[in-house]
Amino acid sequence: MTDRPELASADRIGPGARLLVTGGAGFIGSELVRQLLARRDGTRVTVLDKLTYAGNRANLAAVEADDEQAARFTFVRGDIADAAVVDPLVAEADAVVNVAAETHVDRSILDPEAFLRTGVIGVHVLLESVRVEAEKAALGERRAVPRFLQVSTDEVYGEVAEGRSVEADAFAPRSPYAAAKAAGELLARAYHVTFGLDVVITRGSNTYGPFQHPEKLIPLFTTNALDGTPLPMYGDGMQIRDWLHVSDHAAGIDFVLRHGTAGEVYNIAGGTELPNRDVIGRLLAATGRDWTLVRTVPDRPGHDRRYAMDGSKLAALGWAPKVAFDHGLPSTVAWYRANADWTASAKSGDWDAYYARQYGDRLAAGRAVDGTA
Ligand code: NAD
Ligand code: DAU
Repeated sequence: MTDRPELASADRIGPGARLLVTGGAGFIGSELVRQLLARRDGTRVTVLDKLTYAGNRANLAAVEADDEQAARFTFVRGDIADAAVVDPLVAEADAVVNVAAETHVDRSILDPEAFLRTGVIGVHVLLESVRVEAEKAALGERRAVPRFLQVSTDEVYGEVAEGRSVEADAFAPRSPYAAAKAAGELLARAYHVTFGLDVVITRGSNTYGPFQHPEKLIPLFTTNALDGTPLPMYGDGMQIRDWLHVSDHAAGIDFVLRHGTAGEVYNIAGGTELPNRDVIGRLLAATGRDWTLVRTVPDRPGHDRRYAMDGSKLAALGWAPKVAFDHGLPSTVAWYRANADWTASAKSGDWDAYYARQYGDRLAAGRAVDGTA
């Protein structure tokens, strides 16, 4: 036996695998869990989720309503930064998929601390737990070290004036959210290099689809448009994002979990770069509204002008996104139209206070937008 624990091999993460998915009650995490269990291949999934304002057990209702899937599913409410909760769950897992994070850039500007606690300390607690399992594997007390997949973001590259970011590019995060995500990734990479842990990292682009919390651009503007309330467009609305449907983002994570090489990073790019104005125009068309509802409001501080990633590394392994934005956007609008109760629940709790703090002064200073310009 070497003093380095055996790296997990991707083929162990096949039918019957035991997966720990943190943040599995959120937008992307719940889609991943729905996909994993719907495969009906014996995979068992434990979700560890703190149920912050962004987490919602209703996102997993389809799983819990299906007897066969529910029998392979366990939900644990808890914090990834709490080792007492994390350790026994990691001990039972063949792989840990860390989807949990504080995820909204605007909230990271209002109140950064929670981003650091979950994005840095939380990641460290998970990695330490995996390291303990690695030591057990080295002693022959378990078969292999759990694979650790860290879900990250294109925001770690910072804004990209020209071209597209490739995985080897330097980090240049510009918001507290992006800085916390970069720190989490760096820790994960360090645990691979220093302790030989089986770590893979994904960097996804801007994701949209059903079950996304209405704080983000597409669900906020969709639900406000359906309600006939103003749409607060930051600045000139010419910021560019690369849109990725949530089913593709989750499928990309799952693909890297099974086929990624330890120590490697993989961009999951959407392949649909659009300025916000264009997205807003399409949302207005899909909701039957016009530009009179849109206000240009004071910009987000440090607002990244453009994100763009090169997805060729994953494409070379045989993976590509499937959902075209032309189809995904109207179907997402249709989902929000049909799920007003879900939106009402997401816009409860601290929502009104958050909305007043984030948009009160901005909307008061807002101006009409010429949609033809
Ligand atoms: P989300 O905000 O919808 O969900 C986050 C989930 O994590 C929630 O269920 C929340 O309760 C849970 N959570 C937060 N802190 C926790 C903690 N300390 N312990 C346990 N659970 C905790 O987020 P999302 O949009 O689904 O994003 C998921 C992941 O994907 C994040 O890591 C994010 O950085 C990354 N990502 C998101 C996008 C995007 O456009 N949404 C794009 C690229 C990468
Ligand atoms: O790029 C990946 C990232 O995408 C993820 O890592 C983040 O978790 C996710 O929140 C998202 O970050 P963005 O800041 O790009 O997403 P958001 O939906 O907040 O904003 C998208 C664009 O829309 C951005 O240019 C800001 C703009 N916007 C957003 C809101 C909420 C507005 O103009 N008005 C708004 O009210």
